[in-house]
Parts: sequence; C-alpha cells; structure tokens
Amino acid sequence: MQKEILLNNGVKIPTPGFGTFLTPDGATCVEAVKSAIAAGYTHIDTAAIYKNEKSVGEGIKESGIRRDGLFVTSKVWNTERGYDKTLKAFDKTLNDLGLDYLDLYLIHWPANNLQYGLGADSLNMETWKAMERLHEEGLIRSIGLSNFMQHHMETIMRRANICPMVDQIEYHPGFTQKESVEFCQKNNILVEAWSPLGRGNVLDNPILKSIAANHGKSVAQVVIRWVMQTGVLPLVKSVTPSRIKENIEVFDFELSQQEMLEIASMKSDRIGADPDTCDF
Ligand SMILES: NC(=O)c1ccc[n+]([C@@H]2O[C@H](COP(=O)([O-])OP(=O)(O)OC[C@H]3O[C@@H](n4cnc5c(N)ncnc54)[C@H](OP(=O)(O)O)[C@@H]3O)[C@@H](O)[C@H]2O)c1
Repeated sequence: MQKEILLNNGVKIPTPGFGTFLTPDGATCVEAVKSAIAAGYTHIDTAAIYKNEKSVGEGIKESGIRRDGLFVTSKVWNTERGYDKTLKAFDKTLNDLGLDYLDLYLIHWPANNLQYGLGADSLNMETWKAMERLHEEGLIRSIGLSNFMQHHMETIMRRANICPMVDQIEYHPGFTQKESVEFCQKNNILVEAWSPLGRGNVLDNPILKSIAANHGKSVAQVVIRWVMQTGVLPLVKSVTPSRIKENIEVFDFELSQQEMLEIASMKSDRIGADPDTCDF
C-alpha cells in the first residue's frame, strides 16, 4: 500500500488525508492541524464553508512544515458558483489560508436541476472554466469535483479542456456509491472518501469490531485501511490527538479478501445530502 497516489496529471497525492469539517475555528483547529502534521499527515482537506481556513493556515505555518512537503485542498462553495465568483472565492481562500497556491481545488457540490432547472449544467461548466483558468495560471496544481454523480461529471467532461483529477464523495462501509466510483475508476479520476467513519456511526458495528479484534487494530483503523484497499483515498477528521495518530497507523496490516467481502456486504444510509435533491 503506497503512501501517495498518482493523479491523472502526474501530481502525487498523499493518503490518508486529514479532514477539518466541523473542526471549530480558532485554537482547536490550529492544534488539530499541528497534531496531524506532527503525526505524519501531509494532506489537509478544508473548504471555504468550514469557516476555518485561517486557522488551518495558521496550523500549517506553526507546524514549520515546508510548503512543498504538504498537499492542501479547498473547495468553492455553492453560493460562489460561476466564472467570476469562483475566481474571487479562490482569491479569498488562498488569502485566508496564507498560501500562494493550492494543491487541489474542488467544486464543493454540483448545481442541480431542482434548484437551477436547465441552467444547472451551464452553471457547473462556468465554474469549471474558472477552475481550468486557475490551473493554467499555476495557482492550483490539480482541480476536481465533489459530490458529483456520473451524470454531473459527464456534462463537465463533454466540454472540459481538463479532465477532473478527483471526485470527493460520501463513502463509508455500507454506502459506497458504486456507479460513481466505477465511472471515476474507468476515467482515471481518483475517488476521495468523505466521512469514511460515517462521522463515527460505523464504529460500533459488530462485523467491523470482530475484524478489528483479529488484527489487534481499532475499528477506525480497519475502516481507513478498507477504504484504501478499495482504491479510494480516505479523508479522516479528528480533533483528538490520540485518534489523529491512530488514524494514520494503517500501513502495518492488510485486510484479507474475505474481510473485504464481509465489509462490502454491509448496508447503511447516506449521512449527507443527495446531490440531485439538495436545496443548498
Ligand atoms: N466534500 C464534502 O461535501 C464533504 C462532506 C463532509 C466531509 N468532508 C471531508 O471529509 C472529512 C471527513 O469526514 P467527516 O469529518 O464528516 O467524518 P469522519 O472522518 O468519518 O468522522 C469524524 C468523527 O469521527 C470521530 N473519530 C475520528 N477518529 C476516530 C477514532 N479513531 N475513534 C473514534 N472516533 C473517531 C471524530 O471525533 P473527534 O474529532 O471528536 O476526535 C468525529 O466525530 C471532513 O472533515 C472533510 O474534510 C467533505
């Protein structure tokens, strides 16, 4: 199991990544980012809507890590879709993080037909064109999507000059969005898993507990390892230093084919919104 994955543009992305959704802005976030970097994470995932980019940037700076040793992702929020607004939102994100480039920038959610009718596809395309421009200007090393399903991705890819490098989607045991994952894997788009631990919901599952006991590992470690063995990059959030450390100690064991099948047989609901019907 490699600690880095090659994106379709040749950029290397470290796995697992460190998540910061619901990490409160201020000292908690600064300390969480510093703990993560000290524990060995070199990939931090944030977003403008998390309202903690300044603290993420402060944590990065205080950690003392070299910029080129770190992979930083952020996302353009739904209210900032469109060409000019995306360019402006990106400026703010970069400024808040205190960085002069991003490693990955994502469209956080697709505009959907429920909210935008027939204008949804062209709005997504305008946003994508701004991402392409920022990439061409060297301000972003890789560009991608988040919460895009196959049909949203197809409309982008029909008119794009640059194929997306990533799609970041909800993915945890029992909820694996087979159609989106297969489409991405066929098109060499890396899938990133958000809420790989089901935001904590999967940790009491008896199947996972039994597998964890077999390996002398925690359930969280088993789930993170499972995500990686399915070819997907997990983004795991914690503000607890012991868990932050635990969640990256996933390179010293391997799940068997039987264990992978047992996890694949699990069923659970999505915890986030449905991209086709959400109204935000
Ligand atoms: N693109 C999107 O739309 C989207 C949506 C959601 C999330 N994301 C990204 O994906 C990241 C991960 O998703 P998430 O934050 O929703 O959920 P998650 O990583 O699945 O779960 C986080 C929760 O699990 C707990 N936890 C973490 N490690 C643990 C361990 N070893 N043992 C027990 N509990 C543990 C955390 O508690 P403590 O923090 O209290 O330790 C927290 O409550 C986000 O932070 C964000 O960067 C993206």
